Amino acid sequence: MRAVVYHQFTDDLDALQVREVPEPKLSPASVLVEVRAAGVNPVDWKLMAGGLDAIMPTQFPVIPGWDVSGVVVAVGMDTPEFQVGDEVMAYARTDTVGGGTFAERVTVPVRAVAHKPESLSWEQAAAIPLAGGTALRAIDALGELHARTVLIHGGSGGVGGFAVQIAHARGARVIATASEANHDYLRDLGAHPVAYGDGLADRVLELNGGPVDAVADFAGGMLETTLAVLGDDGVHVSIADSSVTEHGGRHIWVRPDGAETARLAAMAAERVLRVEIAKTFPLEGVADAFRESRTRHVRGKLVIVP
Ligand SMILES: NC(=O)c1ccc[n+]([C@@H]2O[C@H](COP(=O)([O-])OP(=O)(O)OC[C@H]3O[C@@H](n4cnc5c(N)ncnc54)[C@H](OP(=O)(O)O)[C@@H]3O)[C@@H](O)[C@H]2O)c1
Repeated sequence: MRAVVYHQFTDDLDALQVREVPEPKLSPASVLVEVRAAGVNPVDWKLMAGGLDAIMPTQFPVIPGWDVSGVVVAVGMDTPEFQVGDEVMAYARTDTVGGGTFAERVTVPVRAVAHKPESLSWEQAAAIPLAGGTALRAIDALGELHARTVLIHGGSGGVGGFAVQIAHARGARVIATASEANHDYLRDLGAHPVAYGDGLADRVLELNGGPVDAVADFAGGMLETTLAVLGDDGVHVSIADSSVTEHGGRHIWVRPDGAETARLAAMAAERVLRVEIAKTFPLEGVADAFRESRTRHVRGKLVIVP
C-alpha cells in the first residue's frame, strides 16, 4: 500500500516521502481500516522532530498520523463490535509510534474505534477524535460549568474550537482568545472573543467584571495570565504546559477511547459541535499540511485525504 514515511527524527519536512510499504498486520483485538480521511495534529510534526522521544517509543520507518475515518476491510479474531463494511472513526494512537494513519490502510485497536454517524463527512469524522477528545477531557476536568465563566486560551484552534462549543453547550459563559481575524468565528461558536497578547489579563477582568471561575489553556505559555484572572476557588487545566501542576492546575493528556469518540461524533451529528475544516491535502501534501500546522494559526482542522 502507499503511505507517507520518514526514517529518522528531523524537522526537515522534505524528509516526508510517499512510498510503497508492507500491509499493516491485524492483531486479535484490532480492525483493518481503509483510510478515507486522516486528521492532522501538531503532535504529528512534534513527534517527527523527536520532541516526544522521551515519553513515546518510536519504530522507524514511521508512518505519521493518529486520527482516521474509513471503512473496516478486515477484523481481528475476536472483535464482535465491528464488521467488514462498517464506517468508523478513531484516534488510532498505539503504544509505539510508527504505524500511523497517513496511509491507504491502518490497523486500529478496537478500544479506540467508534462508528461514524452517516451525517458526518469523512473529513469531519477524521477531524474529531484527537482534538475533540482532548477538549472533552479538559472541559470535564473543570467540573460543573453551568452559569460559570470559563476563559479558553486558543479558542480558534483545533482543540480550542471544540472546547468552546462543549463549554457553551454546558451553559458556561465562555470567554476565548484568538487573533482578531477569528473573533467572528469565536462568536459563532458561542464565545466572547478577546485578543491575546499584552494586557490580556486586564481585558478579561474588564469583560467579565472580575475574576473567572475556570481557565483552560489550549495555547501554552499562558500560566501567568491564568493565575492573574482566576478567582480564589477557581480551577484550571492546560494541554500544552505541564508546569500548571505546580500551581494547582491539571495537565491534560488525551487518551484513545472509542466510547468518548462516539460521544463526540453524536454531538457533531446533532450539530451541538461544528467541525471546521480549514483545508484538505492529498498524501503527497503532508509536508505542506505540517508547514501550515507549524504556523500555529490554523482555524479548525487540517485533513489528509489519501
Ligand atoms: N496534551 C494533549 O493531550 C494535547 C492534545 C492535543 C494538542 N495538544 C497541544 O496543544 C496545542 C494546541 O493544539 P491544537 O491542535 O489546538 O493546535 P492548533 O490547531 O494549531 O491551534 C492553534 C491555535 O492557537 C492559537 N494561538 C497561536 N498563538 C497563540 C497565542 N500566543 N495565544 C493564544 N492563542 C494562540 C491560534 O489562534 P489564532 O490563529 O487565532 O492566532 C490557533 O487557533 C499544541 O501545542 C498541541 O501539541 C496537546
